[in-house]
Formats: sequence, structure tokens, C-alpha cells
Amino acid sequence: LAATDYQAEDATIAQGTVATNHTGYTGTGFVDYTNVKGSSVEFTVSAASAGTASVTLRYANGTATDRPMDISVGGTVVASGVSFPATADWNTWATKSVNVPLAEGTNKIRATATTANGGPNLDRISVGTAADTQAPTR
Ligand code: GCU
Repeated sequence: LAATDYQAEDATIAQGTVATNHTGYTGTGFVDYTNVKGSSVEFTVSAASAGTASVTLRYANGTATDRPMDISVGGTVVASGVSFPATADWNTWATKSVNVPLAEGTNKIRATATTANGGPNLDRISVGTAADTQAPTR
């Protein structure tokens, strides 16, 4: 089953702006988190059934310093201080995947900066089954 993409620029942004001043993003832009602790982007994600999902965040971090974020579902942190380390520059995007529990129906998945630097630039998330991030076994 293919993963479903959710663009950050279409999500609910708290302390951040939609930007296009770097290359390589998908959709119509990316979110530039404000450089404060607590800046966040929240995605509304639909799940056909309850279970573990893989959430892959596509990001850029053109600084030398990690930009960790907490990942929450429905207000509960399910992955704490996830690392978003440096990419080569702001035009170079990388991915980070976490497994999260989803309920059947609508889920609010939020990525919140945990340091005063704010989050990395965030292009999108892709949500699939946990198996999507694993190598095929046959
Ligand atoms: C630069 C860069 C932004 C980035 C910001 C930051 O201003 O152009 O895209 O978001 O640094 O440090 O967060």
C-alpha cells in the first residue's frame, strides 16, 4: 500500500510561515518554523483502521545544529525529541521516519520544536503502514 503525502504548507501552522526561498521542496512550498521552542505544524491524517503507522517527515536543516521535535498524536507525545540533524544546506532535503499509533478515522499528528532554534524546514509528511519503511522479506 502506498503512503499518503500531506504537505506542510497545507497543515495547521503555529509559529511558522509558508516559504519558497529554497529549492527542492514538493507541493507549493514548505514550512519555516519560527526559531522558538514550541513552534509546531499539525497534520490532519485519516486512517482506515487503528494500528501502527509509519510517518516520514521530509525536512531540511542548513545549520550544524540538530533541530529536535516531539511528535504527538491527538495531543499525546508518541516520539520524544526526534532528531533532525544537519542536511548539506537549506536546499538539501532528508527524511526521518517514526512509527506512531493511529486511531481509526481522523488523527491530529503534530511536530513541535523542542529547542529555541525551532524546527527544521518541513516539506511534507508521508503516512503509510509500518511495513512501508521496511525492506521486503521476499
Ligand atoms: C534561514 C533559512 C530559513 C530557515 C532559517 C532557520 O533563514 O533561510 O529557511 O528556516 O534559517 O534557521 O530556521
